Amino acid sequence: MSRVAVFGAGYVGLVTGACFAELGHEVTIRDVLPERIDALRRGEVPIFEPGLEELLARNADRLTYTLDVAEAVRDADFLYVAVGTPPTYSGDADLSAVWTVVDELRGLEQPAALVMKSTVPVGTGATVRHRLDDAGLGHVGYVSNPEFTAEGNAIRDFQHPDRIVIGAFDAAHGDAVAELHRGIDGPIVRCDVASAEMIKLAANAALMTRISFINEIANVCEATGADVVRVAEGIGLDSRIGPSFLRAGIGYGGSCFPKDSLALKQLAASSGYHFQLLNAVIEVNELQKRRVIGKLKRHLGSLRGTSVALLGLAFKPNTDDTREAPSLVLAGRLAAEGATVRAWDPIVDGQAILPQATIHASPLEALAGVDAAVLVTEWPELAEVDWTEAARTMSNALLVDGRNMLDPAELRAAGFVYEGIGRNGQ
Ligand code: UGA
Repeated sequence: MSRVAVFGAGYVGLVTGACFAELGHEVTIRDVLPERIDALRRGEVPIFEPGLEELLARNADRLTYTLDVAEAVRDADFLYVAVGTPPTYSGDADLSAVWTVVDELRGLEQPAALVMKSTVPVGTGATVRHRLDDAGLGHVGYVSNPEFTAEGNAIRDFQHPDRIVIGAFDAAHGDAVAELHRGIDGPIVRCDVASAEMIKLAANAALMTRISFINEIANVCEATGADVVRVAEGIGLDSRIGPSFLRAGIGYGGSCFPKDSLALKQLAASSGYHFQLLNAVIEVNELQKRRVIGKLKRHLGSLRGTSVALLGLAFKPNTDDTREAPSLVLAGRLAAEGATVRAWDPIVDGQAILPQATIHASPLEALAGVDAAVLVTEWPELAEVDWTEAARTMSNALLVDGRNMLDPAELRAAGFVYEGIGRNGQ
């Protein structure tokens, strides 16, 4: 059993803390937000992540929440950093929360390992190492242990990882972090710190590249009469390609991909390298979100004076996260075009993020009287909608299925003009 301090009670910190507690370790989670710590102490989980509340409750006797650094680091063997690294205006990762944690460790007496879970640019570990040494903390090791958990599936991803990446300056600290994961079955990749940092950024870049690739294939399918869903199935069965991350749609969003792509682009640029492919991946994604507007206009002409329902606001299902969600871009574009926006999402507080829209409690309510609907997030609830009834309640039964979630034939039979993404062949 080890003692683990986790800095940051966000998605990554809470999942990491809960999963280490489940393995039998003593975990103290520290955050700077009093309301967040108070809520956690009361047993309330400030974010929506399936299974997290139960996991925290089940391990409550091994979990402590605090605002106090001294309490968090007392006797800790591992100091996990899981603070946010949001983009700055230039696209670089803002590491100020990381530096605050490093500075707060000044005076730490016991040997421990500082483990970086937050996504950081390559080279951050080396800089932290110097900073620790300058602060007289040579006895604190540094390990990069990036996270690969996806929101909505984070606990499963942590407990059944495709791999655990451990990059250390000193093999003993890497061994200790590997041992901390005992009980979790998954291949361990041991490497240097810079490579571990790059594995994280490159993995996300590879996934984003696949999404932009299939989105461009979808756009060509639209122009040529092929169906991207069949195409993705057909290429995904090639074992060298594989089926994952080939769902065409209105582009990726979330707290990770947009931020990490910009950070990698900036990292390359500041190292003197123009990352041409990544630039294209980002640009394709931006254009993809806007193509929906073009589809609506093709059917409705000008959008001025129309009303459009957005079905789903979260950047993907099973999360309440709307960071960089395509819904925000769409709502903004629609408003700029003079359309009124109605919206539904099963868990997102729509009014808080889209004050100009009217928010409705059910898909059918949001659809009442609108000129068009856009399926933005593939919430399972949308598969249960009575689309024949929906077509009746809309003033014009046009649906742009931004996730290719629904069956075009069924929707057309229900009375809809159906437009998917890259599905002209259907
Ligand atoms: C992503 C990675 O999948 C995780 O491995 C990584 O740890 C995480 O970022 C991170 O860096 O923290 P996440 O952003 O939670 O996880 O969500 P994903 O499930 O990867 O989806 C990202 C976006 O891509 C969503 O907007 C989703 O709708 C979109 N997507 C995904 C597609 O448009 N098509 C696909 O085929 C798959």
